[in-house]
Amino acid sequence: MEIEGQLNATERKILMDAVANGRPETVLEVGTYLGGGSTIHLLKALHANGKGHLWGIEADKSIYERMTANIKAAAPEAYDRFTPVFGFSQNVIPEWLKEHTRADIVFLDGGNNPMEQITEFELLAPFIPVGGELFSHDVKLRKGKWLRPYMERLDNWETKFHDVSDEGLFYGKKIAPEPSAASLKAARSKLFRMKLEPSELAAIILPHSVRAAVLKMLPRGLSRRLSDGR
Ligand SMILES: C[S@@+](CC[C@H](N)C(=O)[O-])C[C@H]1O[C@@H](n2cnc3c(N)ncnc32)[C@H](O)[C@@H]1O
Repeated sequence: MEIEGQLNATERKILMDAVANGRPETVLEVGTYLGGGSTIHLLKALHANGKGHLWGIEADKSIYERMTANIKAAAPEAYDRFTPVFGFSQNVIPEWLKEHTRADIVFLDGGNNPMEQITEFELLAPFIPVGGELFSHDVKLRKGKWLRPYMERLDNWETKFHDVSDEGLFYGKKIAPEPSAASLKAARSKLFRMKLEPSELAAIILPHSVRAAVLKMLPRGLSRRLSDGR
């Protein structure tokens, strides 16, 4: 059974290889969509390992329900390794962390606001063990444009940009428990400067209705570039 999903074949393989090689106990992803992209591929790789569990967070109720049914139908043999979690990552991750002490592999592919991946990273990073891995999607778009420069400045992460799609996949491997004070300062100062970009300030300051009206008046290409960075 083929389920609808995102990520191209190369990105799906990169995630599956990470699970095959890392043999994680705990995998957490944000943004399952309908399940046919990251979710089913991470889950199949865990099943092939014969160990590990995947938690998939999804914020849209109707998508969440369809995704759960899709995964159950497409991979009944692996379903006991999967826990779907309904809600927004910002609310759900702190609750999840009350019951779990580590996340060996993390995949961030949720909302379009670039601060969300930063928030998810900040919440989860202390619980990713040294040797653990993090992937984030849409590095080339607005959604993922802050996490890459932020993590690249932290000296306790080894990072790599997989330029294999229109959206881009970012990768980090944790190599020390904490960043040095200097590298953390550099990362935070870069984030501060990125938040001051005019398009981001407009996204914070202007009411949604005004932003929508302005974007509607612009040519389609420019409007997409401003709203999601395409
Ligand atoms: C780009 S899609 C994910 C694609 C999926 N990873 C795949 O490979 O097919 C983003 C998904 O994240 C969900 N989402 C958006 N914001 C979220 C958040 N804060 N927490 C959890 N899910 C979120 C959306 O409803 C949507 O289904």
